[in-house]
Amino acid sequence: MKKKFPGLLILGIVLLLASCTSKKEKEKSPITKANHDIEAKIDSILPLLTLEEKVDLCHAQSKFSTKGVARLGIPEIWMSDGPHGVRAEISWDSWDYAGWTNDSITAFPALTCLAATFNPDLAGEFGFNLGEEARYRKKDVLLGPGVNIYRTPFNGRNFEYLGEDPFLASTMVVPYIQGVQKNGVAACVKHFALNNQEHWRDVVNVEVSDRALYEIYLPAFKAAVQEGNSWAIMGAYNKFRGQYTTHHELLTNKILKRDWGFDGVVISDWSSAHSTLEAANNGLDIEMGTGTDGLGTTTENHYQHYYLANPFLEKLKSGEISEAVLNDKVKRVLRLRLRTNMKDDRPLGSLNTPEHHEVARKVATEGIVLLKNEDNFFPIEDKKGLTIAVIGENATRSMTAGGGSSELKPQFEISPLEGIKARFKKAKVIHTMGYETGISEYDVVHPPKLNQDSLKAEAIKIAKTADVVLFVGGLNKSHLQDSEGDDRQQYGLPFGQEALINELSHVNENLGFILLTGNAVAMPWLGQVKGLIESWYLGSMAGHAIADVVSGDVNPSGKLPFSFPKQLEDNAAHAFGETSYPGVDMTQHYKEDILVGYRWHDTKNIEPLYAFGFGLSYTNFKLDNISSDKENYTQNDQIKIKTAVSNTGDLAGAEVVQVYVGKKDSKVDRALKELKGFTKVFLDKGENKSVTIEIPVEKLAFYNEEQSDWEIETGDYQVYVGNASNHISETLKITVK
Ligand code: BGC
Repeated sequence: MKKKFPGLLILGIVLLLASCTSKKEKEKSPITKANHDIEAKIDSILPLLTLEEKVDLCHAQSKFSTKGVARLGIPEIWMSDGPHGVRAEISWDSWDYAGWTNDSITAFPALTCLAATFNPDLAGEFGFNLGEEARYRKKDVLLGPGVNIYRTPFNGRNFEYLGEDPFLASTMVVPYIQGVQKNGVAACVKHFALNNQEHWRDVVNVEVSDRALYEIYLPAFKAAVQEGNSWAIMGAYNKFRGQYTTHHELLTNKILKRDWGFDGVVISDWSSAHSTLEAANNGLDIEMGTGTDGLGTTTENHYQHYYLANPFLEKLKSGEISEAVLNDKVKRVLRLRLRTNMKDDRPLGSLNTPEHHEVARKVATEGIVLLKNEDNFFPIEDKKGLTIAVIGENATRSMTAGGGSSELKPQFEISPLEGIKARFKKAKVIHTMGYETGISEYDVVHPPKLNQDSLKAEAIKIAKTADVVLFVGGLNKSHLQDSEGDDRQQYGLPFGQEALINELSHVNENLGFILLTGNAVAMPWLGQVKGLIESWYLGSMAGHAIADVVSGDVNPSGKLPFSFPKQLEDNAAHAFGETSYPGVDMTQHYKEDILVGYRWHDTKNIEPLYAFGFGLSYTNFKLDNISSDKENYTQNDQIKIKTAVSNTGDLAGAEVVQVYVGKKDSKVDRALKELKGFTKVFLDKGENKSVTIEIPVEKLAFYNEEQSDWEIETGDYQVYVGNASNHISETLKITVK
C-alpha cells in the first residue's frame, strides 16, 4: 500500500494539469467531453511509463490477465469468456479451472438462439444483463460476442455466432455490445476474421474474394466497431491470403484501424500470434495465450517470451521497431482501462439475479423455432390421464458443460425434463434416455458406458405406453459435435438417433421432436414426427423455456438464422468439394463467394429443407397493403416499406416482417435477394398493426472490386416482403436514380 501513494500522487497531479487545457482547444475538438477527458488522461499517463512497463501492458501475465503498473496504481486487465455467460475462473498458468466456489453464473442462451429471436431489443437486454455478471465477477473484458458467419453446418462453433446473414448479425450485435459496455466492461467481438470452421483452424489459409469479404464476412465486425463502439476485438487463428489474421496488414491495420477508425484494442486469440514483427507492425495490441504454462519449461517467466514481450522490447531497444508503434498500443490499452476499470462512475454489476434469469428465459422462449406442427401437435395441454414419454439423452444432459471456451458453470441449469415435469403437473411424465453418449471433454471423444440396445429397448417399451412421445435429441457439446476445436463429421444425427426415431414412430405416431443443436442437421426422419421444435442451447432456463413453448404458455416466434439444406451438398460451402471445405493442403477457397446460406439456395434454385427466416407460430399472420413510399429514390434517400400485419388466429403472438432486396439486371453477379430490414411485431389475437421498415439506399451498394469501394448501382431493384426468405407476400419494384 505504502508504495502506491507516491505514484498515485504524481498521476493525480499530471491528470489535474492535463485537465486544464484551454477552453478554446476543447471547443475545437470534434470528440465528446468524456472522450476528451480520456484522451487527455492517456496523454498524461504515457510519459510516466518506462519502456519495460509499456511493453508489459501488451501481453499476458497469466492465462486471462495482463499486468498493470502497480507503482502508478494502474490496474491489471482481467478477461473472461465468453459470448453467453461468464466462464468459471481459470488457473493462473494453465487451462485448469481454479476451483473457486463463488464463480457460478447465469447461463444465457447461445447466440444462435439470440439471433433467432430477430429482436434487437432483446439483444440489448442480453448484453446488459450478461455485462452485469461480468462486472460483478470483476472482469474488464468479456470475450464475446462471436460474429463469424455461418458458412457450413459442420462448423463446431456456429452455436456461438449469430447466423448466416450479415445484416441480421450486424443488427443483433450492436445492442448486445452497447448493453455489455454500459457496465464498464468491454465487449471483445471475435474472431476477426474468416474463422468459419474449427477444422485446421490454427493453420488453414482462407482465400476469398474482396466482394465476399466486404459483403459477407466483415459487415458484422464493422457494425460492432462503428455502431456498437466495441472497445476490443479478438483476432482469429486462421490465415487469410497467406498471413495470420491476428496481425494482418490488410485486415487489422488497413481495414480495422485505418478505414473503420477502430480506437480500441486488438487482442490475439489464445495463441494466435506468430511473429514479433508482424504483431508489432500489423496492429496487435495485446498478446494472450501463447503457450500455456507460466513457469512450465524454464525458471524464467514464460510470459516474458511472448512475441510482444522480451523479443518486442529488444527490437524496440535496437530501433528495429519504433517507439511510436509501442505508444500506439499503449494508448489503446490505457483507453481500454479508462473505459473500464479506471472509469470513475463504473456500475457494480450483479450476479444470478431474478432479472438475469428472466432475460435468459425470455431470449430462450423467443428464440425457439417451431418448424413443423402437423395436426396442431403443439401446444400440448396438461391434463389428467395424459402420459407424456420424454425420451432422449438431451432431456437431461447438461448443455453448458463442454463446447470449448464457452463452457459455463451455471448456478443451475433446468433440463428439458425438469422443465416439462415442473409445467405438466396433471399429466404423467415418464422418461428414459433411449441412447447414451460419453461425457463432453475438449478435444476428446468419450465412448458411452451403457448398453445401447437395452436403452433403445426401454425407450420403445415406454413409448408404447404413452399418449405422446417427446423425443429430446440432437447434437451436444462434445468434441466433433457442437464444440470448439474441430468440426462435425456427419450431417445426420449422431448416436443412432435416426434409427431410434424410426422405431419410436412405429410404436407411437404421436411423436414430437425437440431438437437441441447449434447447427442444421439432415432430417430423413422428418415425415415420422408430427411436431418439430428447434430449441438450440438455452442455458440456465432451458427446461422452463422449452416447457413454455411446448405447453403454449408462450407462442413461438423464433425464426431460423440459417438455412437447413436437405443434404450437405446443397450447402454452398460443400457444393464445391474439398477445395472449398475443409480445404486442400491447408488452403481453402470460398468458391461460393457471396452466395452464402439462403443466397445460394435462392440464386441456384436449390430448395432448402427449412429456409432462413422461417418459423411457425400457434397463430396465423397476414401481411398486406405492402407499399413503398416512393417509386424512385436518390442515393441518399431512405426507402420506407410499409405493410399491415394482422394476427388472424386465436392467440397473441409475434411475427417477423422481413424485407429482402435484389437486383436482377446488375452488372455484377448478385444473390437473388438479400435481407435489408426486419422488424418483430407483437400482436394480440385479431389485432392489426401497420409497420414501416426503413432501408437507406446506400445499403443496396455492392463492393466494387475494381474500384476497391462500395458502389450503388442505379436502375431497378426488387423488394421482397415476407415472413421467411422462402415466403414472400409481395414483390415491389423500386428505382434508384
Ligand atoms: C477461443 C476464444 C477464447 C479463448 C480464451 C480460444 O481457444 O478461440 O474464443 O476466447 O480461447 O478462452
